[in-house]
Amino acid sequence: MATSNWNAQDIHNQQGRLVLITGATSGIGKETAQILAGKNASVILAVRNMAKGQRVIDEILAQHPEADISARELDLTSLESIKAFSDSIIHDFTQLDVLINNAGIMMCPYSKTTDGFEIQMGTNHFGHFALTGRLLPLLMNTKGSRIVVLSSLAHRFGNINLSDIHWSNRSYNTNKAYGDSKLANLYFAYELNRRLKGIKDAPIVTAAHPGWTETELQRHTGFFSFLNNFFAQDTSMGALPTLRAGFDDSVESGDFFGPAAFFEMRGYPVTVKSNKRAHDTTLANELWRHSEEMTGIEFSI
Ligand SMILES: NC(=O)c1ccc[n+]([C@@H]2O[C@H](COP(=O)([O-])OP(=O)(O)OC[C@H]3O[C@@H](n4cnc5c(N)ncnc54)[C@H](OP(=O)(O)O)[C@@H]3O)[C@@H](O)[C@H]2O)c1
Repeated sequence: MATSNWNAQDIHNQQGRLVLITGATSGIGKETAQILAGKNASVILAVRNMAKGQRVIDEILAQHPEADISARELDLTSLESIKAFSDSIIHDFTQLDVLINNAGIMMCPYSKTTDGFEIQMGTNHFGHFALTGRLLPLLMNTKGSRIVVLSSLAHRFGNINLSDIHWSNRSYNTNKAYGDSKLANLYFAYELNRRLKGIKDAPIVTAAHPGWTETELQRHTGFFSFLNNFFAQDTSMGALPTLRAGFDDSVESGDFFGPAAFFEMRGYPVTVKSNKRAHDTTLANELWRHSEEMTGIEFSI
């Protein structure tokens, strides 16, 4: 039974379960990996920098020498890398219990992914859309599986312009582009939940946001890095919404978790509400169609 201050101690033994975390080389992903390794899950770190991934593995093994933890290369800015990564997972495993779509970038200068997508939408949304679509058959094959999608309070600043999603005809607003990508994460989580509803053994789909947590995410924003000193919580708290979304038995598909206190910026994880726009099913469907076209991935539902 979960306490009111749900925390990592509420996660039961994960022996025999396979968890895949994107972007686990720092911040919330790294903390999540560390906790799950300590709960005896088999953990795969999906990382773009294998040397950094190995350093995280060494740190985790120093704490949990028996941990079953490994890293595989995944660059979410490349559809080719996503395919190679997913093919290797599907080849090597017969189950995938929890997929945590954690990796993200924020407020970086304008650039495009290998496939020509605006970099924040490309990494945060399109990359994870393609990855989830490719891994869905494995998740469908695994009883009790889950997909956790990381969003942000910044979804509230999002208002996606589907006719110019790559910012080709507007001057680039990096804050807004981040908000758009985090709104896209919610459209995706909610729409996937709707599409899987009623299908036997379909994965539970949840979303989470970590409030304001000090990580490497703020690397492009001197101002936010400075404000970390006053507002940010540490990763041991910041990882809790993800962990609750992925491992609390009482969760329902479609739930969204975030911190309970100080305008959802800090505290223990509870179910939270996204804004009204995130529940617009017409927009969610349009983004879905667009995402299928852009990535060439059709979900086998
Ligand atoms: N921290 C917060 O306050 C906050 C608030 C709201 C939402 N979030 C969300 O939480 C999630 C985790 O962020 P964080 O705060 O832990 O930030 P972080 O410390 O910067 O971690 C982000 C991770 O994503 C990885 N990554 C970035 N681009 C990638 C790519 N193309 N392919 C594969 N991996 C990639 C990074 O890898 P490298 O180590 O190689 O850079 C890193 O491991 C993100 O989705 C973010 O939007 C965070």
